[in-house]
Amino acid sequence: DEALAQEGSAFSFEEAIAGVDADHHVAPGYYADILMRWGDPVTNDAPEFDPTAQTAAAQAGQFGYNNDYVGYVPLDGSSEHGLLLVNHEYTNAHLMFPGIVEIADEEVNQKPLTEEQVNIEIMAHGGSVIEIEKVDGKWQRVAGSPYNRRITGETEMDITGPVAGHDRLKTSQDDTGRRVLGTLNNCAGGTTPWGTYLMAEENFHGYFAGDLPEGHKEAANYERLGAPGGWYEWHNFHDRFDVSKEPNEMNRFGWVVEVDPMDASSTPKKRTALGRFKHEGAESIVAPDGRVVFYSGDDERFDYVYKFVTSGTYNADDRAANMDLLDDGTLYVARFDEDGSMEWLPVVFGEGPLTEENGFESQADVLIETRRAADLLGATPMDRPEDIQPNETNGRVYVMLTNNTNREEPNAANPRVDNAFGHIVEIHEADGDFAATSGTWEILLQCGDPSIAEVGATFSSATTENGWFGMPDNAAVDSDGRLWVSTDGNSPAGTGRTDGLWAVDTEGAARGTSKLFYRVPVGAEMCGPLPTPDLTTFFVAVQHPGDGGDDWEGHGRPSYYEDLSTRWPDFRDDMPVRPAVVAITKQGGGKIGSA
Ligand code: FEO
Ligand code: CA
Ligand code: CA
Ligand code: CA
Repeated sequence: DEALAQEGSAFSFEEAIAGVDADHHVAPGYYADILMRWGDPVTNDAPEFDPTAQTAAAQAGQFGYNNDYVGYVPLDGSSEHGLLLVNHEYTNAHLMFPGIVEIADEEVNQKPLTEEQVNIEIMAHGGSVIEIEKVDGKWQRVAGSPYNRRITGETEMDITGPVAGHDRLKTSQDDTGRRVLGTLNNCAGGTTPWGTYLMAEENFHGYFAGDLPEGHKEAANYERLGAPGGWYEWHNFHDRFDVSKEPNEMNRFGWVVEVDPMDASSTPKKRTALGRFKHEGAESIVAPDGRVVFYSGDDERFDYVYKFVTSGTYNADDRAANMDLLDDGTLYVARFDEDGSMEWLPVVFGEGPLTEENGFESQADVLIETRRAADLLGATPMDRPEDIQPNETNGRVYVMLTNNTNREEPNAANPRVDNAFGHIVEIHEADGDFAATSGTWEILLQCGDPSIAEVGATFSSATTENGWFGMPDNAAVDSDGRLWVSTDGNSPAGTGRTDGLWAVDTEGAARGTSKLFYRVPVGAEMCGPLPTPDLTTFFVAVQHPGDGGDDWEGHGRPSYYEDLSTRWPDFRDDMPVRPAVVAITKQGGGKIGSA
């Protein structure tokens, strides 16, 4: 079918239409079914959601807010029965709590949160592990499953690896520096080859407020992180989020957390060997020699691209033997050179400038202040590194660089000043070895509307007016080696379209062609996607629907009651707009994106 298939394209489907309205839309011939919404029971003792009487205790067992990373661990190798892994990145009080927003004389004000509302927010963070199965072609949660679990902003976790027990992590709650409550701002993530769930802590600085004591030794550390951010009101009720009272608590965040989803009583572990920064994700792949490689972006303007290579090797026959691989290995940061080559620079105490003269006394110091170490090493400042996805099929790695409107000085890997729409860098690791310490790179795509010459977008000429996108954020490579990109930041005012999921060709004549597969409701960001191994289901996460200010048909900042833009996905007057995970399947069955 000519309408479906582009010459040389790895994809065959009829494109969705870009635009904006209150609902989500998938390509013709597909179902998009709501699977889990904010407030739906996750644990087996959780109550049904009552938005007018929500409590922290209820929220602790219910699906959290702002679903971001989605993972899937098959049970017995099945693509119809497995564990769904979902990060809950952050909360939007104005969309969650009835009456919290007052609008008077065109002024929008949010009232201070009560202690119970703060505790609901803390419980709505973290992640969910949910046993799901396909019944009569539709996915559903398995009620009563021993795997069903919530991880929250208060779940007890261990701190492991080179930083565990360090003085800079000790607090009045924990004099060991090895035990921390909760994980925060888990954006993208990863699933390891041994089936554990990685939750990447991104904008953790936003939860902390107050002023460090005068002349405190962590001042430069926190300043490099833009911390404390003061985005939340948690410090009003919990001293650990007030840096004037607990100056070390923030050093216990900014890590990658590993969770064993096969054991709901297991203690999550913060794996400090992977460094401390605003981790977007932690996608992994096994190198030819069996070592495992984890890619992670530091999502800030002018910050860096990292990878971690384990010292030990993956054992496919003994799951238990892999469970501490993440405690020992080498962290590297990327330098992208002007000639298209690149080096992975070791972030290792004692090497190059990472010495006592520069204030590092051990690898623990280097890891706590990973950004400052990378500055000294001469890593390349990037346009906000988001998800980084290795592709086993072609041996390459895809780096989402979402945007950077503050860039005034271009470099070869970030070639646009005032980069509003972002780009995608493709890394070719030397000899196709993901553990290599050098490689080459090229730009796969400069994003934005190709019909506006000044934008400088580089989509192929076969890309339609629906097919281009801006602000790449999450990505997936499916089991056929095909790249899917989801976006964060498209808006009616900016691009005239919502965020969505695009299929992007990387090979042959079709390279650089993009097609729209699914789009989110107004105000939302697109997270996920996660294809099942057999490619018959794509799980996607619709984050913060109904948010996004006054850029849709002139409506003001929406809130629980004054929300004029959408009540997705329930469209009921007695339900707020809700973030949700959606399962996309093909009508009549079969592989997604294929004829
Ligand atoms: Fe939470 Fe970098 O997006
Ligand atoms: Ca993201
Ligand atoms: Ca991904
Ligand atoms: Ca983003």
